[in-house]
Amino acid sequence: MAQLWGGRFTKETDQLVYNFNASISFDQKFYKEDIEGSIAHVTMLAKQGILTEQERDEIVGCLREIRQEVEEGKLEISDKYEDIHSFVEANLIDRLGDTGKKLHTGRSRNDQVALDMRLYTRGEVLAVDELLKTLLTHLLTIMKENTDTYMPGFTHLQKAQPVTLAHHVGAYFEMFKRDRSRLKDIYRRMNYCPLGAGALAGTTYPLDRDYTAELLGFEGPTLNSMDSVSDRDYLIEFLSALSTIMMHLSRFCEEIIIWNSNEYRFVEIDDAYSTGSSIMPQKKNPDIAELVRGKTGRVYGALMSLLTTMKGIPLAYNKDMQEDKELSFDAIDTVKGCVALFIGMVSTMKFRRDVMEASAKNGFTNATDAADYLVNHGVPFRDAHGIVGRLVLYCIDKNIALDDMSLEEFKAISPVFEEDIYDVISLKTCVEKRITIGAPGQEAMKTVIELEERYLKENA
Ligand code: ARG
Repeated sequence: MAQLWGGRFTKETDQLVYNFNASISFDQKFYKEDIEGSIAHVTMLAKQGILTEQERDEIVGCLREIRQEVEEGKLEISDKYEDIHSFVEANLIDRLGDTGKKLHTGRSRNDQVALDMRLYTRGEVLAVDELLKTLLTHLLTIMKENTDTYMPGFTHLQKAQPVTLAHHVGAYFEMFKRDRSRLKDIYRRMNYCPLGAGALAGTTYPLDRDYTAELLGFEGPTLNSMDSVSDRDYLIEFLSALSTIMMHLSRFCEEIIIWNSNEYRFVEIDDAYSTGSSIMPQKKNPDIAELVRGKTGRVYGALMSLLTTMKGIPLAYNKDMQEDKELSFDAIDTVKGCVALFIGMVSTMKFRRDVMEASAKNGFTNATDAADYLVNHGVPFRDAHGIVGRLVLYCIDKNIALDDMSLEEFKAISPVFEEDIYDVISLKTCVEKRITIGAPGQEAMKTVIELEERYLKENA
């Protein structure tokens, strides 16, 4: 057991208590951020004349040495220390003696951990954003290549109206674009430095908090010391954004699973992203898509868990807050893994244009257009709806598509139909007539693709 706080105690900590309380097994994840924060702190202390320049140089040099040794595997982060802060400080003191003992001047572990977690999370917000950007680049490639790949659009998972693959994928492009903008907001709101808040009430040392904030790339210092040490809002916001990303991924995965099924065959997932069955030799399963869909649960769980942990905590720091780490780390790593795997899967997947197009032809996805034809010839929409309903019933009975009906058959149900009905209800016309921005017609899609391209350039 190695603790920083033995002075007022007359008994050793019970071993079970020590284990229960310790966080080194997980907070070692941000050893780099802990050292980075300490270097900034010491630099500021020297600028303010609280430490000498020589003390600063010795401490900073030694902190860098510790960081390098950990990175090279020469120094092991052992669980005989309570947490990562104790590990770094104890190693510093071992090497520098009394000078090392000055590192923690004007600082508490409460503002220290608040800083470390914020620095770590800030980096991860950027890492997730980078992955989403890569995903968007791949989606845009699929969109560009498929503005004329016709497929059924669905409502209630029933064929509704024809769209294109570019249009369908474009819907996900919008979702992941919004996810990125949420990350940007979170970054902006969280980018304030809590260091200098002390345990809860600031310190009596003449710290320059603006300077520390600047050294660490923050917008400025946080403005209330009690809030600084107990605010975990940014994590809740991040977990919420991560949950939304997973929700989007899970929807896309679900569609890929359906499209990849024997019944649909719209896509074929690459062998490298599929798995087999130990008993059924014919199987090629979409496990990656299923796992991404499944992992959504643990990310939602992390959000619920942290919201519940934070509920009712009185100001300021309470040890409950240590619970923010494991679940956040798990959620962040899960999302990063899922996005990376999803990119691999979607960019190697084969889209079967012929199957998609045949499916769009066979599900009366042009029924609305047939009704619109009647409306354009003076039939009130409600009547047109009824007439086309009867056409559909007739076709179902004969097991044919609307396009397969003869003009006589059309006319038998409504004399308004003429030869030009075939062109109006052709798949191509149905899609290409939809030209307003946001619709699947090629002209509209090309405008959108240009806008998305510009967005990617401006948000690199
Ligand atoms: N491991 C602690 C945490 O993660 C660090 C802060 C400890 N502060 C304290 N007063 N015990 O929250």
